[in-house]
Amino acid sequence: MPPLKHGKIKLMLDVVVMLSGSGTNLRALLEQADKPAAPYRVVAVLADRQADGLQFAAQRQIPNHVVRPADYPNREAWGAEFARIINEYGVDHQRGLVISAGLMRILPPNFVASFAPRLINTHPALLPNFPGAHAVADALRAGVTETGVTVHHIDDGVDTGQVIAQETVRILPDDTEHTLHERIKTVERVLLPTIVAEIATGRRAL
Ligand code: GRF
Repeated sequence: MPPLKHGKIKLMLDVVVMLSGSGTNLRALLEQADKPAAPYRVVAVLADRQADGLQFAAQRQIPNHVVRPADYPNREAWGAEFARIINEYGVDHQRGLVISAGLMRILPPNFVASFAPRLINTHPALLPNFPGAHAVADALRAGVTETGVTVHHIDDGVDTGQVIAQETVRILPDDTEHTLHERIKTVERVLLPTIVAEIATGRRAL
């Protein structure tokens, strides 16, 4: 994976991905990072549980860590440990990028303060509509005809950070939560790596 070169200066964004689930967004980020001249690399993956998605990091020998909230006295202590590990990879609020790609946990303020504005999330709805953990079901229940994907900054609220990019997904009459979420994730797996590459190359400012 030769890094992009600009004169003699290597341009390579170091990315840390956080997840809780199947990790298909991580897989999409890794597949793009595998391409020649990719402008970023995934340096570590963190999870709050033994998530299936960790396999994609393990397959590439990318360091991966499970840090369980139950092992810490409170959210802040768990967040501090997450932050400490990420800092070990040279990523902080000035360098690198931290991506929540299906981390099903609200990040404590001490964690957000450690990485913002270099801290982004992908959410399966068109924010500010349908924030929270049940965005796909909530959109179906509301009877709207379209929903989508939002890549946004993380702040101290629940899916309230500044929007970076959005894509619309049409809701079909026979959609279930599963079919709709799968279609949304197909769009996320293109949008998220695109945005990360744009941040990495400086085409998009944070
Ligand atoms: C994505 O839809 C993400 O927006 C949501 O959880 C899902 C994660 O999917 N928060 P995956 O683990 O990347 O397959």
